[in-house]
Amino acid sequence: MMNRRTFVAAAAAAGSAAHAVPKLAVEGGRPVREKPLKAGYWGTQYYDDQERQELVEVLETRRPFRWYGPGDQPPKKVLTFEKEFAGKMHTRFALGVPSGTAALNTALAALQVGPGDEVILPAWTWHSCFNTIVFAGALPVFAEIDESFNIDPADIESKITPQTKVILAAHLQGNPCDMDRILAIAKKHKIRVLEDCAQSVGASFNGRPVGSMGDIGIYSLQLNKTITAGEGGAVVTKDPVLFERAARYHDLGGLRPPHQQMLGQPELDWFIGNGFRMSEFTGAVLVAQLRKLARIVLDVRANARRVYEGIADLEGLHLRYRPDPMGELGSAVFLGFESKQKRDRFMALMKAENVPAHPPGGSVVLPVLPHIENKVTVHPAWPSFTSPRGRAIEYGAECCPRTLDILSRFAGVSLDPKYTDRETSDIVTAIRKVWPAVSQA
Ligand SMILES: Cc1ncc(COP(=O)(O)O)c(C=O)c1O
Repeated sequence: MMNRRTFVAAAAAAGSAAHAVPKLAVEGGRPVREKPLKAGYWGTQYYDDQERQELVEVLETRRPFRWYGPGDQPPKKVLTFEKEFAGKMHTRFALGVPSGTAALNTALAALQVGPGDEVILPAWTWHSCFNTIVFAGALPVFAEIDESFNIDPADIESKITPQTKVILAAHLQGNPCDMDRILAIAKKHKIRVLEDCAQSVGASFNGRPVGSMGDIGIYSLQLNKTITAGEGGAVVTKDPVLFERAARYHDLGGLRPPHQQMLGQPELDWFIGNGFRMSEFTGAVLVAQLRKLARIVLDVRANARRVYEGIADLEGLHLRYRPDPMGELGSAVFLGFESKQKRDRFMALMKAENVPAHPPGGSVVLPVLPHIENKVTVHPAWPSFTSPRGRAIEYGAECCPRTLDILSRFAGVSLDPKYTDRETSDIVTAIRKVWPAVSQA
């Protein structure tokens, strides 16, 4: 029971607490920051004399092509990158290619995906995943995502048919997929797993680097990724036959001496391949960047940890599902809400505080894109969609209601490895400031 004295004391305390709560910026209060917080491009912020030195060597030796050039010794930048990348990703072979899209193309070729085959991919991912399955002549089949924003392992089995050849597991926005569950399904149905690590270079799942767990893995090294040469990509595998097919596919169907030496006795002969060689300029920058990967990951994870710890006690906090929080890259901290209205209010309040939060990004809900729904290809007789199954399959919003719902209820704040303590603490301050207005609304 409250007597008069305790009531007065409690009222006074409540009054001073109310006074201590800063006024929201949308209501005319002072914003947490004077200017909007903005994440930068990660890898380029770490460019220094090491990248410069590597590039200068290519220029001065006049050897921009990976296989040969002036001088007695063959150029070595791309080859060095491949060797070191394979080591860092705990795998056996790595192949440098010009982009993540080219890497997907190459990986699907290595897995011999072609007309009549089906590949299961998440409804929320990047264009390249769908497009390269179609380039291969195969049929893309969408599965829903779960609250990790990655393919929902529980939705994969219902999408498997006798034609399913590959599950494309994309580790999106720095968050590793639950690979144990995906690999168990793949094993049970004798299906191959292609890991797309474009958005999660440097992340891991239960101590294993992404890309090292499936049959084959791909990475993008484009500007928005963990390390970058502006453009770039890589394919990794432990399987020598998959590597040989990838290496041949990336260079017109033949096998060059350095890769032949790695493989020992080649298993395959010439076939019709593509033109996806990486330039020595790209290789040079990537050698320097790769040696900084651990540093960049440490930096961004430290910033993410500060934000997670700073908001951990918020009542009703619902974070993006992380199958392995320790392995997450830390590129963004995502919060989930009961409804889109609440999510949108959170974003509006955060924007006013100059700490913008955004919906999950970097990917697209592919099935609802008109050109995908209408199966528009460069040629009307593209094999993916001419078979009875290809004609019958329907894309569109109906095939991914859960994906659309999840993405409408989450928002996150991006992190940057170079954020200062002040900047990460501004993120915490802003979230804590707006939280009561959203969660108790
Ligand atoms: C999941 C995913 N896969 C593949 C790619 C393709 O990479 P690139 O842009 O290097 O071709 C991207 C690019 O953002 C991506 O996000």
